[in-house]
Amino acid sequence: MKMAKCWFVCAVLSATLALVASVPGAEDLFSTPIVDANGRRLTLEEYRGRVLLIVNVASECGFTDGHYKSLVKLQMMFSRLQVLAFPCNQFGAQEPQDAASVQRWAKATYDVNFPIFGKVNVTGENASPLFRFLISATAKEPTWNFWKYLVNHEGRVLHAWGPWQDVEVVFPEIKAAVDAIPIDEAGSRRPRPPAPARVAEPRASLNGDTRVPAGPPEIKPPSEKPTGPKIGAPSRMKHDDL
Ligand SMILES: *[C@@H]1O[C@H](CO)[C@@H](O)[C@H](O)[C@H]1NC(C)=O
Repeated sequence: MKMAKCWFVCAVLSATLALVASVPGAEDLFSTPIVDANGRRLTLEEYRGRVLLIVNVASECGFTDGHYKSLVKLQMMFSRLQVLAFPCNQFGAQEPQDAASVQRWAKATYDVNFPIFGKVNVTGENASPLFRFLISATAKEPTWNFWKYLVNHEGRVLHAWGPWQDVEVVFPEIKAAVDAIPIDEAGSRRPRPPAPARVAEPRASLNGDTRVPAGPPEIKPPSEKPTGPKIGAPSRMKHDDL
C-alpha cells in the first residue's frame, strides 16, 4: 500500500518535472514574433546558433547602471553570445519613454552593443509571446526590471535570474553555455534541420571558424581544443574581468 502510494507520488512528480523541463522545440523560440524599436515585426531567427541573454530593461531603475555596464562588457567578451534587451514599463513605471528614445539614450549613455527592441509587457495577460515562452519554460516570471533569461544555442531556456543576481555572479553559467556551442556550428547562419544529433566533427578548427564576428574578436583560451566537449579548458576570462 505504502509502496503503491510512493509510486503514484513519484509518477506524478516526474510527470510534473517532465512538463516543466520540456521546453518547446528550438523552432518555437526562434520563430516567436517580436517587434524592433521602430515597430517592425521580426523573429529571433537571425540569432539561431548563438547563446542568448534576454533581458527586460528599464532606464530609471536602481539596477540600470550596473546591469547596462555589465551587459555591454559581456557582449564584448563573447561573439557567440547575443544580449537582447526588451524595454518594459511594468515595474515602477521606470521605462516611460518609447523604444526609439530608449535606444538613443542607451547608445549615448552606455554605447550599447546589443539590440534594444520594442517595448513589451513581460508579465500579465498582455505579456509578449517571447516572455510568455520564457516564463513557461522556466516557471519564473519577472517581478522587476532586469530579469535575465539564458537560452542555449539550440533554443533551450537554461536559467532565469532576477536583478538581484548580478551578471558577474551568473557569469560562469553564461560562459558554460557559450563554451557548449559546437565549434563547427558557431556563427552558422544557415538554417539547420531541427535539433540534429550533435556529432563532434573533427574537420573544423578554431582557425577555420570563418565567421565575421559581430563585435570585437572573442577572447579564446589558448589551449582550447577544436573538437569534443571543452571540459576544464583554462580560461583567461575571469569572473573579475567583468
Ligand atoms: C501593457 O499592458 C497594458 C494593459 O495591461 C497596455 O495598456 C499596454 O499598452 C501594454 N504595453 C505594451 C508595450 O504592450
